[in-house]
Formats: sequence, C-alpha cells, structure tokens
Amino acid sequence: MCGIVAYTGNMKCKDILINGLKRLEYRGYDSAGIAVISNGTGRNTGLTNPEIVVVKEAGKIRILEDELKNLKIDGNCGIGHTRWATHGEPNKANAHPHLDCSGNIAVIHNGIIENYAELREELKKEGHRFISETDTEVLPHLLEKYNDKDLLSAMQKLLKKIKGSGTIVAISASQPKEIIGARITSPLVIGVSKNGNFLASDIPAVLEYTKNFITINDFETVRLTGDKVEIFDREGKKVKRVPFRVNWDIVSAEKGGYEDFMLKEIFEQPYGVEETMRGRLIDGKLNFDELNLSDKQARRLRKIQIIACGTSYHAALIGKQVIERWAKIPVEVDLSSEYRYRSPLVEEDCLFIAITQSGETIDTLAAIREAKSRGAKIVAVTNVVGSTVARESDSVIYTHAGPEIGVCATKTFTAQIIVMYLIGLYFAWKKGNIGENKFKEIISELKIIPDKIQAILDREDELKKIADKTYKYTCFLFLGRVFGLPAAMEGALKLKEISYIHAEGYAAGEMKHGPIALTDEKTVVVGIMPADTVYEKILSNIQEVKARKATIFCIVTEGDKKTEKTADYVFKIPKTLEELYAILTIIPVQLYSYYIAKNLGRNVDQPRNLAKSVTVE
Ligand code: F6R
Repeated sequence: MCGIVAYTGNMKCKDILINGLKRLEYRGYDSAGIAVISNGTGRNTGLTNPEIVVVKEAGKIRILEDELKNLKIDGNCGIGHTRWATHGEPNKANAHPHLDCSGNIAVIHNGIIENYAELREELKKEGHRFISETDTEVLPHLLEKYNDKDLLSAMQKLLKKIKGSGTIVAISASQPKEIIGARITSPLVIGVSKNGNFLASDIPAVLEYTKNFITINDFETVRLTGDKVEIFDREGKKVKRVPFRVNWDIVSAEKGGYEDFMLKEIFEQPYGVEETMRGRLIDGKLNFDELNLSDKQARRLRKIQIIACGTSYHAALIGKQVIERWAKIPVEVDLSSEYRYRSPLVEEDCLFIAITQSGETIDTLAAIREAKSRGAKIVAVTNVVGSTVARESDSVIYTHAGPEIGVCATKTFTAQIIVMYLIGLYFAWKKGNIGENKFKEIISELKIIPDKIQAILDREDELKKIADKTYKYTCFLFLGRVFGLPAAMEGALKLKEISYIHAEGYAAGEMKHGPIALTDEKTVVVGIMPADTVYEKILSNIQEVKARKATIFCIVTEGDKKTEKTADYVFKIPKTLEELYAILTIIPVQLYSYYIAKNLGRNVDQPRNLAKSVTVE
C-alpha cells in the first residue's frame, strides 16, 4: 500500500510533493522519491535527458526532505511516492519513481504487477535496461515502447498489457505540463484548484491546497494540466464528472472519515485479503514460489512447526487445523515465548513457520534464532518488508494488508489467515492429498471471501446495537469449537485489550470442566457457531450457559433458525466452506469488541500498556 501524490500548475511543486508524501507516510514508509520536470538545475541522477530530475532515498520521508533542502528544483509539474515494498528490498534503487531507458518518462505505482516477470523478460529481449528488482520498473519501459508522442494513449495501451492491481501515475519530459494517471483497483483522487490540479492516493494528501475533489473509477485514465482535467473510461471515451467538496479537517481525513484507525482498518479487510491472494491465485492455480521449496522437498515434508504471539498465534491455530485437514501434515503450534525455553526438538523434513505482523516481536525473533541454531529452515509470514524477522528468515511470505496503525491487529490477522489457507492448499496439492474438484472449490470460495467480508461490514449497525445493549457487563466468555475456537480466542483478546473488560476465549466443550462456574446473570457468552460439523454440539453448550442465566450472543450462519430460540442476540454471516468460517466469524467479533470499547470511551487505537511491536521480552 504505497502512497502517490502529483501536481501540475502555477506553483512550485517540490514542497507540495513533500507535504503530500508526509501526509501519506502512514501508507508505507520504507523509501520515498519525487520526479520533477525541471530545467535540469537539480541533482540529475545520471539521466540522459536533463528535463526530469529524480531524487529518491531509502527510509523515512524526513531523509528525502533533508536531501531536497540542498537542491534547487524549480519545476511546476511532478510526482511523488512513498513506498511499502512488495517486490524487492526497501533500498534506494527500488524506490520510486522509476525511469525508462532514456530518462524521458518517470513512473510511480501503488499495487502489484502480476505478470511483471514475463514482461521484464520480453522488454529485456527488446533491449530495455532494468536497474531495480521491482515489478513497477516494467511500467516506464512499456510506456517508452508504446509512446507515440502521446503519453495518455501509451498508458491506455499499457493497461491492456498488464495484469495486476493499483494505480499508476506518469510524466514525460516531452509533455512537460501533463500528468497521466490510471486507476486499476486502488484509490486515486483528483484535487482541483485554480492554482493547478493534483492526483493523490487519498484526499488528506492535498487537503491543504484544495477541498474540491473528483473520484476516479477502476480502469479509468486521466490527463491533468494546470487548468484542465480529462477523464477517460476503459474504452478511451471521455467521461464527465463534477467535483465534490469535502469539509474534513486534516486529522479526520487521515482516518479516511472513520473515527479511529482501528475502525478504518477493520473496513480495509476486503482489500487486505484480496491483495494477499493476488499473484498467488492465478487462473485457478496456486503460485507459492516464495516458499523456496523444490517439489521434492515439499513432498518429503513430514511436519510443520509454527510459532507466533498474540493474534498471530490465533492465525497459527487456524493454520494448524487447515494444514492438517487439507495437506495431512502434522502441525505443532507454540507460543514464541514458550518455544525457546522448552528444549524443542527440530526434526529433519520439518518446516518452521514464524508468523508476526510487525516482524519485530522479540519473542518470535528469539524463537527463530533458537530453532535456527538447531538446524531449522525458517519461513516468515509478515506484513513488513525488510523487518528483522524477514531478514533473519530463509524465505518470507508477505501479507499485503498495508500498514496497520491501530495497536491491535485486525486487517493483518485476516491476511495471515489467508496465508494459512494458501499454505494448507499448496501442500495438499504438492503431496497429492486433495482432489482437483475440492482444490478448485476451495479456490473459488476463497476468491469471493472479500465480498462476504464486505457483506458483514455493511451490517455493522446490527453489531453496534448489540454492543450498546451489552457493554456494561463485566465478564465475557467467547466459546467456539474446532475452527470457531481460534476465532473465540481472538474475540476475547480483542475485547480485553481495547475495552479492559475481563474476557476468556474457551473451547465450548471445556466449559463443564471448570469455567461454567463463572457464569451467572452478569456474564455475556459469545457463541461462535457457524453451520459446521460441531454446530449441534456447541448449541447444547450454549443452552447449558443460558440455563445459568448468562446473556447469550451467537454468531451463526444465514438460514439458521434454531439458535434464535436460545440466544438473546444473533448475528448471521454468509455461508461458506467449513474451514473458511474462521475468517468470516472474526469480522463481527472485531466490530462487536470495537463498539463495546467505544461505548466505554476507550482509546481503541492506543490501548493502555500496549505497543504495536513488542521488542522487549
Ligand atoms: C493483538 C496484538 C498482539 C500481537 C502480538 C504479536 O491485537 O496486536 O497480540 O498480535 O503482539 O505481534 P506480531 O504479530 O507483530 O508478532
């Protein structure tokens, strides 16, 4: 999830770009850069055409800003980018903007080009020279190839050639007052003002310069000059669109109009889940080269060990069930903080997976080091490119949830669950433990999971109402079985960390072995009970706690009629495969916990005593 800003008009663009990038830094911050059409008076980074000046740096925007202070860049038309790496390390060469061979065209991009490897080979054969490891670099070379004096029509041709997601923005020294943009799937807005026009990943990036905006739809292209905005549909026909005015202040705008980052991130889950599947599920096939395993190694695998902490540990528990069920490989799951102290055995043909959204959790890092010292090969699953865990692991599978600002994990969790599903499917296929029909059925159901998550989010009001009725209770028990159990554990963790109410996530069948003694009229029991093979069992457990006067809230599947007879409140989720309920049930639980915490006036983005990455033991 990179950030994009661009400007053309009668003001100098250097400061506009830097200010915009600072506002976008929350979207990604491993490197940043700008390209400005200038008189060549700035630092020219080896370009043959002195008109485009590119300055880029690894690290935070502040480093780029310091570098720019010493340079005189006078241009009025330019583009800027802050990067959240997906392909290639977060270093200066991989930072955007990227150039074509002549240095005449500069491009920034947010998203993933799925067919970049074949495009790169094709372009190399035609003589194009590449200097970075990014997927983006194919774009300026494609524009160079298609550019017949008009960058807009080159962009429109390019869109037909690439497969992928995101937004692309380009400038050319031959059309020095124009900015060309294309939206494939990621957000891109036009800001209009009498002093010039802007393109940006979101409104806050340029809110200090204008309050008038125009949205761009998927597969539309745009041409901006200082006094004109043109929008074209995917067939290249001109589209008329009227600007709208926003009245947001900057802080609320950064949250995209949401009250908190946590809520915004909960709502970003369809996107994070889709992006994490992107490039891995192509044409009904599963591509998982990142695992770095030969077919022989995959087939020989006899065990998987997963370690993680907190929410990531709950993703590991889902991973265990799905891998054992589909791939028939035994999986052991440990809390990272326990693993390193329990004299673990590292066996041959065992794959070691560490899950950590931040990639910096010290317990997970220490467990990795312990396992490595015993000869294990490590696969990291993380959301942060270049993080310590990513660097210390043998291979990395990135979740593409985008930066998570809220301290408690939401969208990174659902992205981790997707990776667990993909790993389960991958080994099931490689080991020949799954039939083609089942394989295809799972893939097609995974593909529509983002829509089902969206359908739940669209009914947030129902969850808010249940939270309004129950937020004063002081004891919450989240119960689940099989795939519902990790969701119950995650629900209890979410609630306790943001509301400070005591909550337990428990295996429903274990209630009678102790915790049922806790239940009375001051307790809320949240039953995670989708239509799976253990539904009837958990329904009886729910009836047992109802008999002890607890208030009952159940998450069930649409069409369920039985639960309503026992429960005080129900929330219905869409139907899916048994294994995939783990990801759907978590969405209402996140929203429910969020609204309880809000009712109690808590700071959900920064709960007391917690930090986003836990770098102390
Ligand atoms: C809960 C939460 C924490 C983290 C845990 C591990 O909302 O955010 O429980 O899941 O600290 O963090 P990572 O995944 O960064 O290793």
